[in-house]
Amino acid sequence: MKNIEELVDSFIDQLPCKADRPYPEMKVERENPRYAKLLMDAYADGGKSEFTAIGQYMHHHFTIENKEIADTEFCIALIEMKHLEMLADLITKLGGNPKFKRTNNAWWDGGEVSYGDTTCLKLKLDIEAEKAAIEGYRLLLSEIHDKYVQQALCRILEDEEVHLQLLTALLHKHCRK
Ligand SMILES: [Fe+2]
Ligand SMILES: [Fe+2]
Repeated sequence: MKNIEELVDSFIDQLPCKADRPYPEMKVERENPRYAKLLMDAYADGGKSEFTAIGQYMHHHFTIENKEIADTEFCIALIEMKHLEMLADLITKLGGNPKFKRTNNAWWDGGEVSYGDTTCLKLKLDIEAEKAAIEGYRLLLSEIHDKYVQQALCRILEDEEVHLQLLTALLHKHCRK
């Protein structure tokens, strides 16, 4: 039987809602629990985190009737899951434990998802979350001076920029007044 990680990687590679550049190998220069803690921010802390993004895109995928938008939401959710896996790998290698916790040590909860009532509001909330994620990754890049972690974060950022473009194009196409 083919290795599951290989199967998933080749599946992810074929998805259209990501940047083209291949994902780098997940490694770190050395253990650094402070960096691990900083990455928990992007992992499961609040509205800009990968774990929240997966919940948000899946909810929107389940509830949006327009097929083009619902499909894009599903596709992006799968890429956010790839990001979650990358961060979990880095957090572990830096000496942390990738539990679904906020940086204030409270557990993640479903109230952190921006659900929205209408399709256009959902798209706007997704766009806001991507902008916050991009800002969050830029801040992490200025704080974390491990060249391998930086390479991983830069690659994730490229995907978030693609997501922002895709969602903005959908908003303009379907929600112009
Ligand atoms: Fe992401
Ligand atoms: Fe994203």
